[in-house]
Amino acid sequence: MKLEEAKEILTKYGQSHILKSYERLNEEGKEKLLHQLDHIDFEEMKALFEKTKETVAFDDVKIEPMASVIPEKLSETEREELKTVGEDLIKEGKLAVVTMAGGQGTRLGHSGPKGTFDLGLPSHKSLFEILCDGIKETYEKYGTLVHWYIMTSRENNDATVQFFEQKNYFGYPKEGVSFFKQSELPMIDESGKFVIDENGFIKEAANGSGGTFESLAKNGMIEDMKQKGIEWVFIGGVDNVLVRMTDPLFLGFTAKNHYLGTSKTIVKAYPSEKVGVFCKKNGIPSVIEYTEIPEKMAEETNAEGNLVYGESHMMLNMFNIQTLENIAKYKLPYHVAHKKSSYMNEEGEVIKPDSPNAYKFETFIFDAFPMIEVNKVGLYRGKREEDFSPVKNAEGVDSPETARRDYMAYHKM
Ligand code: UD1
Repeated sequence: MKLEEAKEILTKYGQSHILKSYERLNEEGKEKLLHQLDHIDFEEMKALFEKTKETVAFDDVKIEPMASVIPEKLSETEREELKTVGEDLIKEGKLAVVTMAGGQGTRLGHSGPKGTFDLGLPSHKSLFEILCDGIKETYEKYGTLVHWYIMTSRENNDATVQFFEQKNYFGYPKEGVSFFKQSELPMIDESGKFVIDENGFIKEAANGSGGTFESLAKNGMIEDMKQKGIEWVFIGGVDNVLVRMTDPLFLGFTAKNHYLGTSKTIVKAYPSEKVGVFCKKNGIPSVIEYTEIPEKMAEETNAEGNLVYGESHMMLNMFNIQTLENIAKYKLPYHVAHKKSSYMNEEGEVIKPDSPNAYKFETFIFDAFPMIEVNKVGLYRGKREEDFSPVKNAEGVDSPETARRDYMAYHKM
C-alpha cells in the first residue's frame, strides 16, 4: 500500500493515530507497517468493534443437553468392530492429525512455543515429543505414516521448526510433518482504535482455534491432504499430555456411523471447570464456552445429582475432509475477549495497563459443529484418566504437576 492510500483509509476508519507511529519508524519499518495495512479488512474490524458492545445472551434460544455415546455401554463385539474400522482406515493412510500450536507458554512462565515446554518428566520430553510418541507408536504398529500438520503462529513458527530440526523430529520421518502459520487480527482499544505494539506496529493476535480451518485452507494444507487421499482429520491442542490423536476406536466410531464431525468428550469435573460444554441450541449441536456460560446453567444438576451440561469439549475433534474444506470457506462467528495489553501511546511511550484495555477477537473450533448437518455430529465419551490432562497453568489445576502425575499413571511409570 502507498502512503497516500494508507492516509485515506486510516482517516476514513478513524485510525489516523497509526500515522504518528509511522512517522517514528525507519524506512524499513515504514514499509512493514504499510504492508501490514494491506491485509487488514477495515470493514470487518469496524463490525467487530460494534460486537464488543453486545453481551452474550441465550434468552431466546432453546438450550437442551446433548448426550454422548458411552463406549462401555456398547457390546464387546461392537467395540471391536469400531476398532477394526478405525485401524483399517489408519493402515490405508486415510487419517491425518492436526495440532494447534499457535500459543506461547506465557501462562506457564515458559518463553518459547508452548509445545517446547518440558513438564519435568524423568525423560524431560517436551509436549511436542509426547504428542509425537503417539503417532510414532501408530507408525510402528501399522507401518503407515500418519501425516502431522502443526499450526504455528507468526511469532513462534521459526522457533517451532528449529526445535523439530534440533530434535531430529523426535525420530518421526520428517516428510510426515508439515508446519503452517495461523492468521491474525488486529487488537483494538476501548474506543475502537488499533492497538500499537511496543515496536510501533499494529498489534495483532492469533484469530483463535477456529482459525485452524481457514489457515489450513489458505496454506494449501487441505489440498495436500486431499492429494494424499486423507479422509479423516483429527484436530487437537498442543497442551494435553494424554491426547491420543490416532485412537482407532474414536476414528471407527466417526467413520462407521457416517458422522462428519465428532468430538471425544469427558464429564466436567465441577461446575466452574474451564472447559466448554456441548448442548443443543434450538436443536443444533453446539458448544458453550466456559467464558460465556451463565453460572446457573453451569451449576444445574439433574435428579441423580449430575451436571445437566457436563458433556465437555476437550479439544479432541475429528472431521471428514470434505466437511473441513466446506467449513474453511465460511467465517465462523467471532467471540470477544477483553484483555490487558501493553501498547505504545501517541507520544511513543510503552504503557503496561493494570486492567483490561483492549479487545481480542477469536473464532472457536467448536463453532464448526453447528455448521454440520444435525444428525451428522456425534459425541463419543472418553475418559479423563486416558484422554485429558492439559498443561495450562504454572501451578494448581491443569499444571505441569497434575499433567506429570496423570501421564505417569497412564503410562504406568
Ligand atoms: C480450549 C477450548 C475449550 C476446551 C479446552 C480444553 C476453545 C475456544 N476452547 O480452551 O472449549 O474445553 O480447550 O482444554 O477451543 N490455540 C492456537 N491458536 C489460537 C488459540 C489457541 O493454536 O489462536 C491452541 C493452543 O496452543 C492450545 C489450544 O489451542 O493448544 C487451546 O487453546 P487455549 O486458548 O489454551 O484453550 P482453552 O481456553 O483452555
